[in-house]
Amino acid sequence: MGGCVGKVLLLFDQSRRDEEEKLDYKGGNVHIINSKEIWDQKIAEANRDGKTVVANFSASWCGPCRVIAPIYAEMSKTYPQLMFLTIDVDDLVDFSSSWDIRATPTFFFLKDGQQVDKLVGANKPELEKKVQAIANNS
Ligand SMILES: *[C@@H]1O[C@H](CO)[C@@H](O)[C@H](O)[C@H]1NC(C)=O
Repeated sequence: MGGCVGKVLLLFDQSRRDEEEKLDYKGGNVHIINSKEIWDQKIAEANRDGKTVVANFSASWCGPCRVIAPIYAEMSKTYPQLMFLTIDVDDLVDFSSSWDIRATPTFFFLKDGQQVDKLVGANKPELEKKVQAIANNS
């Protein structure tokens, strides 16, 4: 299913080993959000430029979340009219809990700060479809 709920314990050892690993978005245009201030700043920027925001709320220990990271980076280059963000829910616990995240990854699509769509799970074709639809609409 590509979700990560209930796998926390199972993946705990893995997360220790992966801790050093940096997210690699190879020349992509994905912005890493590690504070509420940067989030506000990016949302303001997107609103000003009339860009729809795609936000990846994930945990770094979530294996399936990492798998589509290269595709996410690729899409960020293909669709410069959108703004791609990634938020580590473990870094921003309070902020993330204000969103209705029941499984990671959860992708939110925001226009003018309002949620227009949402995708739960590391569903590559579905993510591509939604991003494409939104890009064609903006
Ligand atoms: C989403 O964010 C998580 C945590 O920062 C990261 O591990 C994952 O690779 C990201 N996924 C995508 C599709 O960018």
